[in-house]
Amino acid sequence: MSDYSDITVEKRQPGTLLITLNRPEARNALRTHLLSEIAAVLSDAEQDDMVTCVIITGGEKVFAAGADVKEMAEHNAVSLWRDERPRHWKSIREFSKPIIAAVNGFCLGGGFELAMHADIIIAGSNAQFGQPEINLGIIPGAGGTQRLVRTVGKSLAMKMILSGEFISADEALTAGIAAEITQPENTLRRAEKLAATIAKKSPIALKVAKQAILNAYETSLEQGLDNERKAFLFLAATEDRNEGIAAFMEKRSPKFTGN
Ligand code: HXC
Repeated sequence: MSDYSDITVEKRQPGTLLITLNRPEARNALRTHLLSEIAAVLSDAEQDDMVTCVIITGGEKVFAAGADVKEMAEHNAVSLWRDERPRHWKSIREFSKPIIAAVNGFCLGGGFELAMHADIIIAGSNAQFGQPEINLGIIPGAGGTQRLVRTVGKSLAMKMILSGEFISADEALTAGIAAEITQPENTLRRAEKLAATIAKKSPIALKVAKQAILNAYETSLEQGLDNERKAFLFLAATEDRNEGIAAFMEKRSPKFTGN
């Protein structure tokens, strides 16, 4: 499955698709072509019942160094306005299955924004997270100002975006950016183990759970609770819910089908 130039794509274990950013010479800078490849892979994965969970990872020392500054230098306001990149970010944002980012090393600018598009971040202890766009006279442009403040609150988001200073994996864990920290050599292995656990669950319950959690960013608590209730009722009509409960009663492992 590797007809890609800027990423590699592998089905590593049942239910899991691994996307590895692969522009080490440019520190995995997210040029438009790379983003378009991720969007294309996710579009296929959306339709592929054999894919339940996606992992996105980078290199040992750099997850991704941000947008490709050399490509950005060629743009002006009008060409940026016509740019295809927002469409690719939208595809990543709208992917309905769980995404885990396995992050070692520098995770900066658009690279950090990509990691924040993931649902779970597993960070190596060598990870550094930052939004250094301010050093270039710009601001984050793929949701950084919005997702970061919702994750870590105003003060830390302001510090990172206004100063461009990086934070460590430990700080990212404390701030709720990362779900876990591992030794760098274990980051991908841990993400795969987690993906394997997730991939055994009901695909339909996973999608509904992801959507319900993401909805929390969009709604009031009352509306969110109402949405959750409707989603909960919807799942009561699925075969997977019957199978999950039957398996519990019969003291066996459930066999979920996504129906
Ligand atoms: C294009 C990049 C790049 C980038 C590195 N390179 N980052 N090219 N875009 N974001 C290139 C360098 O130009 C260099 O190419 C080669 O990769 C190696 O870079 P070094 O700096 O020598 O590597 P290293 O010493 O290992 O340092 C790694 C690094 C540093 C800490 C990640 O490269 C760095 O700080 N990069 C820029 C980070 C940044 O400012 N990101 C924000 C981008 S703006 P040559 O040809 O010289 O060998 C952004 C906006 C998002 O993300 C907007 C919405 C998407």
